[in-house]
Amino acid sequence: MFVKSLEFVNYRNLNHDVLYPTDGINVICGENAQGKTNLLECMWLCTGGRSFRGSKENELIKFGEKFSEINMSFYSCGREQTIQIIIQNGKRKPILNDVPKNYVSQIVGSFCAVVFSPNHLSLIKNGPEERRNFVDAAICQIKPAYTSVLSRYKKILNERNALLKDIPRHRELEDTLEIWNEKLASEGSLIAAERFAYMDKLSIPAAEFYDGISKGKEKIDISYKMNSGAEKSMNTKDIELTILETLRKKQQDDIYCGYTSSGIHRDDIIVKINGKEARSFGSQGQQRSAVLSLKLAEATVLGDKKGEKPVILLDDVLSELDSSRQDYLLRKLKGMQVFISCCESNVNAKNVFTVKEGNIYISGEE
Ligand SMILES: Nc1ncnc2c1ncn2[C@@H]1O[C@H](COP(=O)(O)OP(=O)(O)OP(=O)(O)O)[C@@H](O)[C@H]1O
Ligand SMILES: [Mg+2]
Repeated sequence: MFVKSLEFVNYRNLNHDVLYPTDGINVICGENAQGKTNLLECMWLCTGGRSFRGSKENELIKFGEKFSEINMSFYSCGREQTIQIIIQNGKRKPILNDVPKNYVSQIVGSFCAVVFSPNHLSLIKNGPEERRNFVDAAICQIKPAYTSVLSRYKKILNERNALLKDIPRHRELEDTLEIWNEKLASEGSLIAAERFAYMDKLSIPAAEFYDGISKGKEKIDISYKMNSGAEKSMNTKDIELTILETLRKKQQDDIYCGYTSSGIHRDDIIVKINGKEARSFGSQGQQRSAVLSLKLAEATVLGDKKGEKPVILLDDVLSELDSSRQDYLLRKLKGMQVFISCCESNVNAKNVFTVKEGNIYISGEE
């Protein structure tokens, strides 16, 4: 899979231009605050994912303008395809191959990319929600139908939480809670089974990448930990029963607190380096290498599943790595289309785009 052309209009500080990248390594270089991350971000939006900076839709439109537009043509599944995204009035409207879609989620799985930015360090540093979102978003790119299971689960969870808040004033409602317990356990077990299967696939390349990055000196280990205590060896039915049992056991606590304290929305992905949890004990460099390994592994699994390699977006990664690690990374990315942003271009690439004040210049054309 590769981007053939990318046109943007009023995307953050980027003005209006069209880029024609190569299908190998593309370097995006420029001084600070010129628009390098913005360029990667607008490409990432074409996956149907949310801004990796956690921004709201209106923040993506250039200050003082009313709308922003991205037009991408990319090669995938043996043909050229197009994605257009118009951002206006706080909404993103996607058009895939000239067919307008109601929701951004409907284009997930068409253009596939993996992004790594300094923000992604939060994947290790922050709480479990970030890690669950990482795994869920990765599964969605492979299996777009997973998006509906997730949204069904969220709806049921909201219903149960609303009911929990009502019960202290209407005790007679407590009997109806069991219906929501069962629904939550049933949908939750489907999500858990997908997460276990995905983690199984992800952990192998992640360990290989970490071994390469750390030059064989350290070992990474990642696993999915369910808060209900359900385990990988269980089948989906047993996972469902374990979740259900925990929901029932914690029912009185949940009524007291007014929210659901157990279920797959409370699970975590545990990342260990040399047997110690990276979140609490990892150094900056170890945490960065761990995230990079997870991201490269995500690209490997996505490539295997889709039968074609995703586009790789690396924001400010090279400056953090010593030259042997840079070489290792670039070697591993051979055969994929890569966009790398950096402040200085010392990467040997065919295409170097220079970003200056929201305008793009190709290899010294400025
Ligand atoms: N909606 C917007 N409209 C106009 N400018 C914006 C908008 N959102 C962000 N910017 C500006 O875009 C500029 C470039 O941001 P960007 O993060 O892409 O820089 P960068 O080239 O990646 O810099 P660095 O090397 O520091 O990471 C910043 O000055 C930022 O304030
Ligand atoms: Mg940046």
